[in-house]
Amino acid sequence: QKPKVIVSAPLPADLRERLAARCEIVDVPTGQNPAETLPAELRSQIAGMVCTMRTKVDQALLDALPALQVSSNFAVGFDNVDLAAATRRKVLICNTPGVLDGAVADVTIGLMLCLARNLVAGDAFVRSGAWTKGAFPLTHDIRGKTLGLLGMGRIGRVVARAAQAFDMKVVYHNRRQDPQAEGLATYVERDELFRVSDVLSVHIPLSAETRHSVGKRELGLMKPSAYLINTARGPVIDEAALVEALRAGTIAGAGLDVMEQEPLPPTSPLCELPNVVLQAHVGSATHETRRAMIDLAVANLMDALGNQTPRAMVNPEVWQARA
Ligand code: GLV
Ligand code: GLV
Repeated sequence: QKPKVIVSAPLPADLRERLAARCEIVDVPTGQNPAETLPAELRSQIAGMVCTMRTKVDQALLDALPALQVSSNFAVGFDNVDLAAATRRKVLICNTPGVLDGAVADVTIGLMLCLARNLVAGDAFVRSGAWTKGAFPLTHDIRGKTLGLLGMGRIGRVVARAAQAFDMKVVYHNRRQDPQAEGLATYVERDELFRVSDVLSVHIPLSAETRHSVGKRELGLMKPSAYLINTARGPVIDEAALVEALRAGTIAGAGLDVMEQEPLPPTSPLCELPNVVLQAHVGSATHETRRAMIDLAVANLMDALGNQTPRAMVNPEVWQARA
């Protein structure tokens, strides 16, 4: 008998076929709670799951899926998972690192260029006819400026590499100094990072420790001419403090692909600030990258259920304990 797996993520037809050859697929609409949508009898037989970050893999869901062995995240971030609870229950958690680094770095660089050169306002300036009445206000170079990276993982390193092409000086802060950053970026203390950066970009995961870790104090260290970019997770930044800094002009602008509340309601004060460029959490949202992510997420799930070591495990100790 094939193991039953929940699919709560968009699955291309060919991958669905490949998965169906080895598993019995139980569909749950993306973002819906399997504990609420599936009958208890079926729930008790679920061995695996592939889901997006909109599925909260918490103690309650783990309790509702007592036979669950593996939950494969269709995302690199896994802040939707209570990792301690999953590890305690010996549920393997997988994710999709590596395949989306370039796409997220591209949006990071794009936001930086939009902010420095005021590209979004420039488009409206031309369309509205304002150009016929005068030239667009001068903007700022990024060349020769300092890019600060808070977090130096895979994505941070790709951003650092891209910044070399813009002749930027790159500094970073990370929990640990990163030997792979050698020659790409210079390690600085955390406060120093906020003080010296002309553009500060966030590339750390969301956890209890990092929630609101960029707050009023950190924003207060930044230059009034500096831009803050976030393509990681919204709650890493204290958004109320950011809005205050942007209103007061103690920083120059912000480029945000992620927010504390997603989808961001149009009533958010962020939508009223002219010095903010917003995107709809699209860092990894290209055809090519999403395909690579779902490929990896499904491979992780099938490997785990087929006793092959999955390529990307968040809590490999669960796997090792099984062997
Ligand atoms: C996207 O936000 C991801 O974590 O992959
Ligand atoms: C984030 O997950 C990173 O790899 O930097």
